[in-house]
Amino acid sequence: MGLFKSFQWQGSGKVYSLPWLKNRLEYSADPKRIAAFAKHPFTRSRFVMDMLTLFHLSRNSIVVSDDKHAGWLKGISRAHLPPEKAVPQIARKLVERVFPVPRPERSEQTVHISDRLIRELYRSMLNDTLNVTVLKPLEDFITRTKFHHNSRPVALEGLMYSLRLHMPGLRLLRSLIDRLYFNDFLHMRRVSAKLEKMVVDFTVPRTGSWFSVLAELRSSGKITQSQFRGEITSMLVSSFSLASALGSALLCLAARPRHQKKIHGDPAFARCFVMEVLRLYPPFRQFGYERAAKDKNSHLFGNAAHEFMVAAFALHRNGDVWENPHKFQPERFLERDAEKGLKYLPFGMGKRSCPGRRFSISLITEALKFICSDECQVIFVKRDKLPKGKSGRLVSFPLDDSLAYRAK
Ligand code: HEM
Repeated sequence: MGLFKSFQWQGSGKVYSLPWLKNRLEYSADPKRIAAFAKHPFTRSRFVMDMLTLFHLSRNSIVVSDDKHAGWLKGISRAHLPPEKAVPQIARKLVERVFPVPRPERSEQTVHISDRLIRELYRSMLNDTLNVTVLKPLEDFITRTKFHHNSRPVALEGLMYSLRLHMPGLRLLRSLIDRLYFNDFLHMRRVSAKLEKMVVDFTVPRTGSWFSVLAELRSSGKITQSQFRGEITSMLVSSFSLASALGSALLCLAARPRHQKKIHGDPAFARCFVMEVLRLYPPFRQFGYERAAKDKNSHLFGNAAHEFMVAAFALHRNGDVWENPHKFQPERFLERDAEKGLKYLPFGMGKRSCPGRRFSISLITEALKFICSDECQVIFVKRDKLPKGKSGRLVSFPLDDSLAYRAK
């Protein structure tokens, strides 16, 4: 009986952990439990940092640095995100690039939206956030590169971590798994390394740009060369997150002509639509924390878990705190308090939460407003269903991402 018990998830409500695992991860989708954890100082977990470092998109950037460095650099970087008034124009340009008007006008185009969005958002992040002019060799490379979004499932990463299979000595095993099952992941690691180099060699920074500020910080020794390059590479990670969220939003919009009409008549409603998309399809299905160093000895949680994973996907569909949790119902965000109470965390929580929150919500909202406006030259063909949203990758994308459109 004891042996049988040790193979069962243990815990209460939506808290899970297997008692025999070496490194124990506690997964929670319960706002009360998350609130109890968040009462004490916490930081990004080592597991998540390991995963991000291995992921092709992030080395030595804010995401994988300590709290002090992250807090300092985030403060500087925020000022370089595009201002609110520039966002509608950025969104419009993005939509027009992703959906060129088909010729002849009557033909219908079907696109796989995720990879196309990663490319266009990457262009946009370089132009509008890093604030550089892209030269021809880089432009050509971006145009001909395939931007795949597949990566190892987070559950597999978690299991490998729990069994201590993430240790450097087992690198060969990991690369074998990647070669067999996740070739896209290896492809993107190569693309990312190439892009990092090309952005340094083939862009011209504009005055006062985020790129030139980073270069000054490097020259004055405030950041290292690899941190400088890490921040440049992190533009790609942001493009992934945005592409996932915007892709889900576009697919949902195509499935909901009723909401297209509503946004056309009441553009402010687009924000509720975006919030609902991020509830049902959070790009980061899970992310994790651990106790901050000074609180390491706290026994509040006993030895139940070493790391605390917020299972955002399950949290956002937790029937104890959301009414009709699986129903796509943007109207729920008309309520002022709809996102309060640690039940809605698409951008994380605490001091390591996402600095791109405001910009991302605005960009997606403006993109939807433009698509539903009279100015937009294209119209979506109605989809039968909302996208499927299960796949738990580091950055998860909708499973069925084909979208058909035609000229108006
Ligand atoms: C819809 C789009 C996005 C989503 C859903 C998203 C979500 C997240 C999440 C869940 C985290 C981890 C938070 C935590 O551990 O508490 C994060 C971290 C971060 N995000 Fe985003 N993000 C998005 C877009 C962006 C954009 C556009 C940028 C930059 C322009 C950005 C920059 C960052 C950075 C720098 C961090 C690390 C912060 C730190 O380590 O302290 N994100 N994001």
